Amino acid sequence: MSRPNIRDAKCVLVIGATAGIGRALALAIHDLPSKPTVIVAGRRQERLDELTKTSDRIVGIRVDVTMDRAALKDFAESVVSQYPNLDAVLFSSGVQHVFKLDQPEHMNWNLFESELTTNYTSVVALINFFLPHLMELASTGHPTFLIPITSSLSVVPGQWVPYYSASKAALHSLCLSLVVQLKNTNVIVMEILPPLVESELHDHQGNRERLSKIWMPLDEFAKAAMEGLCRGDAEIPVGYCVSKWERHEKGKLEEMCKGPSSR
Ligand SMILES: NC(=O)c1ccc[n+]([C@@H]2O[C@H](COP(=O)([O-])OP(=O)(O)OC[C@H]3O[C@@H](n4cnc5c(N)ncnc54)[C@H](OP(=O)(O)O)[C@@H]3O)[C@@H](O)[C@H]2O)c1
Repeated sequence: MSRPNIRDAKCVLVIGATAGIGRALALAIHDLPSKPTVIVAGRRQERLDELTKTSDRIVGIRVDVTMDRAALKDFAESVVSQYPNLDAVLFSSGVQHVFKLDQPEHMNWNLFESELTTNYTSVVALINFFLPHLMELASTGHPTFLIPITSSLSVVPGQWVPYYSASKAALHSLCLSLVVQLKNTNVIVMEILPPLVESELHDHQGNRERLSKIWMPLDEFAKAAMEGLCRGDAEIPVGYCVSKWERHEKGKLEEMCKGPSSR
């Protein structure tokens, strides 16, 4: 019997769907034979409009995940009341900044805090706010899904983006705990760990041309990530992240499942 997987989903919210990985996965999920409704979310309204124009099954909701916790709770509750069949949430919103740790006098605390909020604390809050609904639906026998996106840099940090790597390592650790704590709930956690992928993430760092020679093309990435989502894998490393995951992460989840007394 196959594990619950993305093909079981009927209504998928993709947060961070206006560009890159989120946009590609939103479109790939939309194209599944199961014909789910896809709710695309992000800050740029014109990008949401461009997506919603392409299909009656794509709807857009504007959101900035750096808004305060009460507003994030209102957002989650409003999505659930508008779409009571929501059964999957994919978290693709993310930003990445270069910091020089050897130049402490140039620390930009605002940038640090917005990176941490976007990549980690907003995901913690949103998971908390969506879980009551997802757990209730799951308890009726319909599997539901949490799909966070971490990074190969959550496994081996990129020292040039130290706080980004730390935010993704925190999210990766949380994903493992979620898998274990939710294992009897029918809420399925599937973490995607991308390698360097074609997107807009690094554009503001001014190195698009250099990175474009080495990144994984977006369509190739989306195909591999969708294969993992269609298998229902708890961890979906893609591209060169597979060997990093095998070297540093393989077996961790199994060890956690044995419980603290076995360690
Ligand atoms: N590309 C890579 O090499 C790579 C590798 C590993 C992991 N990842 C991860 O993959 C995810 C997607 O990144 P990407 O590469 O596709 O980057 P991207 O092309 O820059 O897309 C980032 C998405 O995040 C959204 N976003 C950013 N800040 C937001 C905010 N405050 N509120 C709501 N949405 C926000 C953006 O939408 P708006 O600007 O419209 O709000 C956009 O849709 C991120 O979590 C990233 O860390 C990427």
